[in-house]
Amino acid sequence: MSSSGGLRRKQLLKAVVLGDSGVGKTALLHRYVNRTFSTHYKATIGADFMSKEVIVDDAQVTVQLWDTAGQERFQSLASAYYRGADCCLLVYDVNIKSTLERLTLWRDEFLRNRFSDANSAEARDFPFVIVGNKTDFDPAERQVAVADALDWMASVGIDAEDHFETSAKDDVGVTEAFMRMSVKAHRLS
Ligand code: GTP
Ligand code: MG
Repeated sequence: MSSSGGLRRKQLLKAVVLGDSGVGKTALLHRYVNRTFSTHYKATIGADFMSKEVIVDDAQVTVQLWDTAGQERFQSLASAYYRGADCCLLVYDVNIKSTLERLTLWRDEFLRNRFSDANSAEARDFPFVIVGNKTDFDPAERQVAVADALDWMASVGIDAEDHFETSAKDDVGVTEAFMRMSVKAHRLS
């Protein structure tokens, strides 16, 4: 029997996580990278980053995950971190409709900072993954159906398969969403 592997290709991917304050960006990253969850809210100031090693198509990929501030007053710092990003995770809260509506602004803001021409083909094809978080709340409180998210995604040209619903609290869908992001970014890079 031959031993598996040998040298794998190595790659560094940069991912940026965006969305309104409180939707759970930091909680999703802690769940994905550290396997932990805290109910305590501490606003992200500017941006933080964490790393995660994953295997994609037999390449060893280090994903640098940039967690940005949703609060307006901390954001001017954050946009500097959009440069060089290979993919972007846009997060909304399924219990607050405005957080989905605001993804249009987050996406525009991201593309404006990431590309010199936000209308270029490169910008148009940029890989986004869309995440509706906090599905563990009372279903009667839910304000955003999957169909609402898919409608918005179709309107900006993002495929339905790039949509995920998650609960950082209950660890539902989190690994799947981040894995999708790594796979997309890796294949495009
Ligand atoms: P900013 O840093 O201000 O942009 O906010 P954020 O998007 O990073 O939000 P954060 O991850 O800090 O989460 C905000 C609050 O929501 C915290 O109290 C979390 O514990 C809570 N939270 C995050 N994800 C979930 C979830 O899936 N379910 C529940 N029930 N609470 C969550
Ligand atoms: Mg945060």
